[in-house]
Amino acid sequence: MNLKELAAHIAAKFQNHYGRPPRWIVAAPGRVNVIGEHTDYNDGFVLPMAIERYAIMAADSPPRGSVSAQSKITVFDAHFDETATIDITAPVTKGSPKWSNYLRGVLAGFQQRGVKIPALDVAFLSTVPLGGGLSSSAALEVCTATLMEAATGERIDPIEKALLAQQAEHDFAGVPCGIMDQFISALGREDHLLLLDCRTRQTELVPMSDPSVALLVINTNVKHELSGGEYAERRAQCEEAAAKLGVKSLRDVTADQLEQGRARLSEIVFRRARHVIGEIERTVHAAEGIRQNNWPTVGQFMYASHYSLRDDYEVSCAELDAVVEIAEAIGAQGGVYGCRMTGGGFGGCCVALVQAGAAEAITRKIGADYKTKTGIDPTIFSSRPAAGATIIKG
Ligand code: GLA
Repeated sequence: MNLKELAAHIAAKFQNHYGRPPRWIVAAPGRVNVIGEHTDYNDGFVLPMAIERYAIMAADSPPRGSVSAQSKITVFDAHFDETATIDITAPVTKGSPKWSNYLRGVLAGFQQRGVKIPALDVAFLSTVPLGGGLSSSAALEVCTATLMEAATGERIDPIEKALLAQQAEHDFAGVPCGIMDQFISALGREDHLLLLDCRTRQTELVPMSDPSVALLVINTNVKHELSGGEYAERRAQCEEAAAKLGVKSLRDVTADQLEQGRARLSEIVFRRARHVIGEIERTVHAAEGIRQNNWPTVGQFMYASHYSLRDDYEVSCAELDAVVEIAEAIGAQGGVYGCRMTGGGFGGCCVALVQAGAAEAITRKIGADYKTKTGIDPTIFSSRPAAGATIIKG
């Protein structure tokens, strides 16, 4: 479903559930990170793009007259047919169902900024695969923040919005994530990647509209549950490396300096730092390659990123490695420029840069070979770089 169809779909769901049409419809996309993995919380660079997969919400004020309805936000999950009720008369706290915490965290952030949360009836659904490393949670958070903008009539700066959503993830989902996912969901632009300097928060939109190439998202359809603790552990190891090297963050360290300081680090912490420092460099170079439509070069950086994530950072897994191996076997001759795991790791998705004309054949080949190797059916789709969060109606 494209965004227009999706908007019509959620409007119908709202109408069905609440018996009247919605007044507002808002959406926020998921993302795929082209390169720059595990660099955001090290003050480095990332290069994500928003994808044509969205969290979408339709909403209206509750009908006048019902007093109890004025004290809460009712959220109907139109996909799983489940309802969350959030009390807005007091500071919003964590609660159930679990997914409602992404919304609760954002509402709490607005409250902390002195915004009076309006009572609402909401219907929502998401086409961002859950837990697939495509930022389904950031999409939901940014979508909620966008709904608040629509319903209160007060726009907030998109960077402020992204930071508020990130805070929600930290405080209400317990994931000490960086700023990439919420930034791209809030600030994405059609046909552009977003080169984000996570230290200065400066952004540059890098055009990517060459019709001769396409990006494929390959979902391994596995998720290894160790991801939560492993993410925090990687972050702590990076902080340890920076502290032992006497700098604020790994952004401040060159490859040479890392070598010179090697004796001060344990073997594991050294390798973690080597990934981050190399990845920051690769991301800057890959952005340059994209500006020049130099796809073979971009592809090489993608492969190098994967090997580094697999060997030094150790956040890949057998299924992600299998996809990259299959992509490499198809090779440049078969139309694949590069491929790598994307997102936090331990399952989820790979991203491949391919010749547009060969995309269908490559999709079939990866699908078949992955199934043979792992026994699992992958989900594969291609997406143009999509726009960030939008108010579709209201
Ligand atoms: C997750 C986090 C991001 C980023 C990536 C790894 O998606 O939410 O902030 O750290 O992992 O690049």
